Amino acid sequence: MVLSVPRPALKDQKALVVGIANEHSIAYGCAAAFHELGAQVALTYLNEKARPHVEPLAKRLESPIFLPLDVAVPGQLEAVFDRIEADWGHLDILVHSIAWAPKDDLHGGLLACSAEGFAKAMDVSVHSFIRMARLAAPLMTDGGTIFAMSYHGAQRVVPNYNVMGPVKAALEASCRYLAYELGPRKIRVHPISPGPLKTRAASGLKDFDLMLNEAVKRAPVGELVDIMDVGFACAYLATPYARRMTGQTLFVDGGVNIMA
Ligand SMILES: NC(=O)c1ccc[n+]([C@@H]2O[C@H](COP(=O)([O-])OP(=O)(O)OC[C@H]3O[C@@H](n4cnc5c(N)ncnc54)[C@H](O)[C@@H]3O)[C@@H](O)[C@H]2O)c1
Repeated sequence: MVLSVPRPALKDQKALVVGIANEHSIAYGCAAAFHELGAQVALTYLNEKARPHVEPLAKRLESPIFLPLDVAVPGQLEAVFDRIEADWGHLDILVHSIAWAPKDDLHGGLLACSAEGFAKAMDVSVHSFIRMARLAAPLMTDGGTIFAMSYHGAQRVVPNYNVMGPVKAALEASCRYLAYELGPRKIRVHPISPGPLKTRAASGLKDFDLMLNEAVKRAPVGELVDIMDVGFACAYLATPYARRMTGQTLFVDGGVNIMA
């Protein structure tokens, strides 16, 4: 059967990408790949302090919608979706590329993690994803694709990943359950598991440079990944070519995950 796929493959698709802090952000790789393939991208920035780092990127990608979004501030997420509904009337692609945990809870081992720190990390890094999917689904009237950024530490023990291991495990499980619930509406949900990338969030992990060295040594392809590798993997999954794939974690890590 021949699939009818536009050229470029995401022509006129509407995407919301959350999680750009700067041009090194994984979310920026996603937004840039979608834009290159013809999509329009709505972007958000965390707060006024972050805005000057994100605004030039929004200009570069000709983003028609550019709004503040801190998922811990009540009402901001709803305001973003209200604007998307008013301007676009529908949505095709959603990327959740945010994670956070209180520093003390992130740096101590899991045994030392406080109940409060655990709950905050889960709220910003996982429940915000569920809230986003809930708001996005009614706008995905022609089906759609939803992404969340995970990491290998969800499935295997990675030293120093600490509380983010269980947090990302919950994120991946949430993707599977949402894929099940949203599948009948032709909305596909994917956890993406990139290899380590030098970003702001990554610099909060202890001995992150060691993780990078280890990844390049262990990767069958012998190289680290970059943000465009992640972006184009998501772009592919958002096309009709991937219409029968949903729920499973896609590793974009040069093959590190297959190694013993
Ligand atoms: N860098 C890596 O090695 C790596 C590997 C695998 C997965 N990831 C995941 O990729 C995602 C993106 O991280 P990144 O590496 O691009 O770093 P990044 O620092 O560029 O992005 C993290 C983003 O999270 C946002 N954020 C934090 N708290 C928020 C809140 N309350 N509301 C809204 N946004 C908030 C920040 O503003 C920032 O834009 C995260 O989920 C991270 O865990 C990163």
